[in-house]
Amino acid sequence: MSFLNNIGWEKYLKPFLYKRLPDNTGWSAVLGTLCALTFLVLVATGMILAFYYVPSPDKAWESVNYISNEVPLGDILRGIHHWGAGLMVFLVFCHLMVTYVHGSYIAPRQITWITGVCLFLTTLGLGFTGYLLPWDMKAYWATVVGANLPNQYGAIGNYITRFILGGNDISGFTLSRFYSVHTLILPACLLLLMAMHIYLIRVHNLSDPRERLAGEALPPASGKPYRFYPEHTNRTMLAFGVVLAGLILLACYAPPVTQDPAGTLIPDYLPRPEWYYMWLFQLLTYFTGSWEMIGTLVIFGGAIIMLFGVPFFSESRMKGFVNRPVSVAIASTFLVCIVYLTVMAYAETAPYKEFVVVPNRTLTEQEARGLYTYTERECSYCHNILGQGGHRTGPDMSNMVKKQRTDKYLMDYIKNPVSVYAGSTMPAYDLSPEQLQDLAAFLKSLDFTHGIKPVKKPVEEILNAKPGMGAKAAAGS
Ligand code: HEC
Repeated sequence: MSFLNNIGWEKYLKPFLYKRLPDNTGWSAVLGTLCALTFLVLVATGMILAFYYVPSPDKAWESVNYISNEVPLGDILRGIHHWGAGLMVFLVFCHLMVTYVHGSYIAPRQITWITGVCLFLTTLGLGFTGYLLPWDMKAYWATVVGANLPNQYGAIGNYITRFILGGNDISGFTLSRFYSVHTLILPACLLLLMAMHIYLIRVHNLSDPRERLAGEALPPASGKPYRFYPEHTNRTMLAFGVVLAGLILLACYAPPVTQDPAGTLIPDYLPRPEWYYMWLFQLLTYFTGSWEMIGTLVIFGGAIIMLFGVPFFSESRMKGFVNRPVSVAIASTFLVCIVYLTVMAYAETAPYKEFVVVPNRTLTEQEARGLYTYTERECSYCHNILGQGGHRTGPDMSNMVKKQRTDKYLMDYIKNPVSVYAGSTMPAYDLSPEQLQDLAAFLKSLDFTHGIKPVKKPVEEILNAKPGMGAKAAAGS
């Protein structure tokens, strides 16, 4: 067949296809190929979604609904893209963990590992940017919180935040930016990195668990040969079939929830990010005030540097996890922390509209009136007190004294947040000066640093106790 020879069959394609991989390659090697295939599913569904999607604030939400409700099979398409994105993050993470535990990154495969970490971060970036596109409440808040993370680090951080948002605030510019990054820049990066990754895997072949020291020749191959085709592709196709069937089922029976469009302030949605970012959001709640820097910069930045550095500070050149107790211990600890943080994040977002944390002493009349307004105006929609009782879209209210906030600052902030902080996303509250003064007094009573214990006061009880009826009725005991 001269045609096949013309496209380099004998010279390039055949050796590529029939490449012999290590004989005892396990099923876990399927993960990498599965990531690539899932990415192709996302590209294919994404291309069709882009036919209909309009990246502008007044049309985006509608166009996504149009896809779900009017386009033939549109809901399934969107569902596959939505669930596929989550699945890809999961698969890439599993692939990374397996590679780590097997020690497959050891020389000569350091660069393969580094391109892999880049692929992982690119996948997370695709998740973050894709998240905003439906332009609903959840998208909006996740982006506000995410984009504002760098904002605390002086001028450079502020520049990064403005660069991400395309201005001081989330707007149509943010949407165009995210759309371009999501559909052009990051997919191009991912393809390029994937090509490098696959090339390097071909250069060094898959890592053989029997290899002990880098560079040492393997004992002669034994057993049945394991080739890329047909053995590896067969396994992969089987696994991929299962994955695809799962995605279609999820798309049919658990379509992505359509939320209110961004900007409607109706307090019964849960402002929380997609599940694979929950651990990070939870982590950030443990660090408030000046400690916030540790939470984001040191831990998050440190984790990324560590991840890149894995092949360079590996404890030994041995492969296989029995030989590498320290590395495996680190990985397990890391995994346990991520799972713990994720679980805690879901557990803590739940109790909203149930109780408000107050100091365990008799509140003054003014404080009690403030507590009433705080509850009635549903500040817990976005604020926690000591990490409890609400959502954590805004800062925790238990450290206003620690942060040395004055009454005037608090009152100005609540009345018109933008007047205090230009980038504020908190709604303005048109309250009377007395009500503002009450709120300020209440917020300043939430100081638990001097031995006063916190106590949970049920929302119902607070609302039933009419303010101004005397301190006893609204006392926090
Ligand atoms: C829709 C979400 C949302 C609601 C509802 C909300 N806030 Fe906020 N609040 C925020 C966010 C976000 C911030 C921090 C940054 C900003 O302003 O964007 C904030 C900041 C604050 C601050 C400044 C904290 C500091 O450390 O400087 C105070 C005080 C405050 N809120 C009080 C309140 C009170 C009182 C209510 C209820 C009357 C309330 N907030 C309702 C989102 C909200």
